[in-house]
Amino acid sequence: MKPTRTSGTRAAAYSEVLDRIRLLLEGETDWVAAMATIVCELRQGLDHYDWVGFYRAVGDDLLVIGPYQGTHGCLRIELGRGVCGTAAAERRTVIVDDVHEFPGHIACDAASLSEIVVPVLRPDGSVLAVLDVDSNRRSDFGEDDRAGLEELCAWLGERFGDG
Ligand code: SME
Repeated sequence: MKPTRTSGTRAAAYSEVLDRIRLLLEGETDWVAAMATIVCELRQGLDHYDWVGFYRAVGDDLLVIGPYQGTHGCLRIELGRGVCGTAAAERRTVIVDDVHEFPGHIACDAASLSEIVVPVLRPDGSVLAVLDVDSNRRSDFGEDDRAGLEELCAWLGERFGDG
């Protein structure tokens, strides 16, 4: 299936992309295949995305890069460090309007100005991964992004969190 860029409102774009992801992953049980498909679909479907990727929780205190699209992403992030490590440690979505104002922000791409990170939680509440999205515009992520990505990550946690 060829990905298509969406038009219309951002909420509508998320709705379309999430429908496509659910369809594409029907019957798929491989977590890496799922992450790779998701970053492709999100990057193609959401025009404001500059970088999108997963960091996987490994052991108790480390995030390690997973599938992503964009410029080079740093490979390892300690829990509690940067935006990703904060979202994982606190198990909540973190939206940063200006990455230069976020203490401890890890700059992988100098062009990146705002960021949203959403944790993927297993049914037992532990962190499976975080989904990180960057934009090269300030204050580019809002409630439509939070709603769309939290819906996606909740679904992923249920679907892949038991494996
Ligand atoms: N900026 C992130 C690091 C990952 S890159 O943006 C790809 C952070 O502070 O956690």
